[in-house]
Amino acid sequence: MKIVMLNGQNHKGSTYHIGRMIADKTEGENEITEFFFPKDLNHFCAGCYQCIEDQAACPYYEEKKRIIDALDAADILIVTTPTYCMHMSAPLKSFFDLTFDLWMSHKPMESCFKKRAVIVSTAAGTGTKSAIKDVRDCLVYLGIPKIYGYGIAVQAMNWDGVAANKKEKIGKMTDRLARKLSQSGAPNVGIKTAFLFKMMGMMQKKGWNSSPTETRYWKEKGWLDGKKPWKEKGV
Ligand SMILES: Cc1cc2nc3c(=O)[nH]c(=O)nc-3n(C[C@H](O)[C@H](O)[C@H](O)COP(=O)(O)O)c2cc1C
Repeated sequence: MKIVMLNGQNHKGSTYHIGRMIADKTEGENEITEFFFPKDLNHFCAGCYQCIEDQAACPYYEEKKRIIDALDAADILIVTTPTYCMHMSAPLKSFFDLTFDLWMSHKPMESCFKKRAVIVSTAAGTGTKSAIKDVRDCLVYLGIPKIYGYGIAVQAMNWDGVAANKKEKIGKMTDRLARKLSQSGAPNVGIKTAFLFKMMGMMQKKGWNSSPTETRYWKEKGWLDGKKPWKEKGV
């Protein structure tokens, strides 16, 4: 399987280590591709809305493209972020801002509806819940139907500082998450994703879009005529 890690930090601290453990423990002949932010995408969204008309018109398209291509090809996504001020890290937020044109409200990628994802966040004490929710909201809108979250207060500033008993607990939890990711085949699409997709389709039909190119995109995919991106035959 193809596993893509989106790391909301350049360094390899507790959060990265946990994410990487999950990737390494996932069964099968896996190819793991890692991106680090801001190293691999060092920009903020300019708010120019060029991407809404044409993805390639984003001023940062060159850098974004290889990440989006990897995301498109991935079976599994592992998103890691340290909890910073109770939320996801700013570079990770910036990555999501820079890919908002791929949200269900605009031009979602079909492949996203067939992926599993894990979100990992560590904090010294508190805040992983809100950090994970930040990321989950984005992944839901990208169309990812199966999302697991793992947050832990490590009481440390780096991986070396994490106590042995915590590492043991992390070991067990990462085993469990890797087992969930090792399942073959695409995950079931639940009511939440299906409902959101339906609502977004209704908005496109009513012309409540950000650009007519969005409605064209949905039409071309057959999604306005009952096709579903997660169904093999589409309907
Ligand atoms: C800018 C910054 C903000 C932080 N905010 C929080 C916070 O809101 N709550 C918390 O418990 N820890 C906070 N921490 C501590 C980190 O979340 C914690 O040490 C985490 O495990 C670091 O992960 P890493 O080893 O992957 O870098 C913060 C650390 C930094 C540098």
